[in-house]
Amino acid sequence: MIFFEPQSRDRKIFPHDPIKALVTPRPIGWISTVSAKGELNLAPYSYFNAFSSSPPIVGFSSEGDKDSSTFAVQTGEFVWSMATWELRDQMNATAASLARGESEFKHARLESAPSRLVRPPRVAASPAAFECRVTEVVKLKDLDGRDSGRRLVLGRVVGIHVAERFVRQGRVDSAAMRPIARGGYDEYSVVEQVFSMPRPA
Ligand SMILES: Cc1cc2nc3c(=O)[nH]c(=O)nc-3n(C[C@H](O)[C@H](O)[C@H](O)COP(=O)(O)O)c2cc1C
Repeated sequence: MIFFEPQSRDRKIFPHDPIKALVTPRPIGWISTVSAKGELNLAPYSYFNAFSSSPPIVGFSSEGDKDSSTFAVQTGEFVWSMATWELRDQMNATAASLARGESEFKHARLESAPSRLVRPPRVAASPAAFECRVTEVVKLKDLDGRDSGRRLVLGRVVGIHVAERFVRQGRVDSAAMRPIARGGYDEYSVVEQVFSMPRPA
């Protein structure tokens, strides 16, 4: 086994930080937000997950104050759209650093669809989306207690969109949606196969 402390890895063995390759697959938070001034934004966040089902809470973490976290904090709203195999190139295109106010929807040639309860729209072609209201913004600290500049934005899911064609016998066929997930480096995975395993009684 190789053991190392993250800040002092042997760069001959690991020229690149391997941590993201070890926490894989990470679902992609494809996050749309609107600023207080009405500027629209869309960007992918792989530090994203669901943290609770009741109340339903999801969150994304921003490595520094980026537009998504800034806008979500300003307005208290964000929308998550599922990134899928079909939308992979467009999802990647929305990671471009555009000037504030220049829409990533337009840049990635994506249609938006209006939300019902919040201002940011969802990605129309995505098979699932959550409308969210911000509940907490956690300033992630390092061991010395100092603010790391990382912002974990948590939100309560207030509205859920699911494309009917993926609903079969009361269940969502998530493998048929082919969600993509992030690994390390420039790696991704795609969920096409699932297995069932009932929990022990
Ligand atoms: C698949 C993918 C996942 C990403 N995950 C994160 C992340 O978790 N946190 C982060 O700060 N940036 C992440 N990025 C980079 C941001 O998407 C990128 O900095 C983007 O320009 C931020 O946009 P914004 O300023 O409009 O919010 C990711 C990029 C890609 C392609």
